[in-house]
Amino acid sequence: MSSKLNLILIGPPGAGKGTQAERLTDDFNLPYIATGNILRAAIRDETELGTKAKSYMDKGELVPDDVITEVILEALGSADARDGFLLDGFPRTLPQADALAAGLEAADRRLTAVILIDVPDEEVTRRLSGRRVSVKTGRVYHVELDPPKHEGRCDIDGSRLVQRDDDKPETIAKRLAVYHAETEPLADYYERRGLLRRFDGTRSPTEVHDHIRATIATLRLEDEL
Ligand code: AP5
Repeated sequence: MSSKLNLILIGPPGAGKGTQAERLTDDFNLPYIATGNILRAAIRDETELGTKAKSYMDKGELVPDDVITEVILEALGSADARDGFLLDGFPRTLPQADALAAGLEAADRRLTAVILIDVPDEEVTRRLSGRRVSVKTGRVYHVELDPPKHEGRCDIDGSRLVQRDDDKPETIAKRLAVYHAETEPLADYYERRGLLRRFDGTRSPTEVHDHIRATIATLRLEDEL
């Protein structure tokens, strides 16, 4: 059985999953598989997947389980993800969690940990209302909490920063409701399997990162012993 790092990031919208993933993939040299990014790219490229996903995403609803599960199991089976992965945004429902467990078991792999970043609803709303994303690099900013050096421009290459379509107030409220109903039960699901690690996402990005990195480093050491 493989002893690579097979990690999942879960948490409400705006918890900082993407922000932390950028740092953790660097720390541990892991391929990053983010369902939201995959789906947004599919919409931009007008693929069949994008056409299926768009109406759900625009409303803040989840894309059907079978549609997203197929995409993710295929990504996990690719050569890139063979030596470990950081999965962000999947699973988001109990059927997705069961499908992932079955897919990993069939490949004789197992999860190392599920990292839950917790943030209350009011903070989610504040963060998502001010979030801006580079159209080219995908780097995420916040107009007040993490502003770019030059307003509206990415620090990396000067590309334009835009607001995501689903970061409008009414869609944020819907996404939060969907999170509480569909995704929150996964905390119990993974707790029962001894995989859940909780982190306080209200701390600064650096503090959250330090805590998660230390936990993963320990898990990796334990795995190697
Ligand atoms: P997805 O793209 O996965 O969105 P999400 O889970 O709602 O998460 P976000 O990307 O909004 O937030 P994040 O936690 O990454 O926060 P970030 O780091 O950007 O999914 C979008 C849609 O796709 C779904 O609604 C659904 O329709 C569909 N979908 C995806 N997966 C699916 C699945 N498995 N099944 C079905 N449908 C699926 O940070 C947010 C802001 O806060 C930024 O501005 C950042 O600068 C700031 N910030 C971050 N950390 C901190 C901090 N510690 N302190 C202060 N500010 C911070």
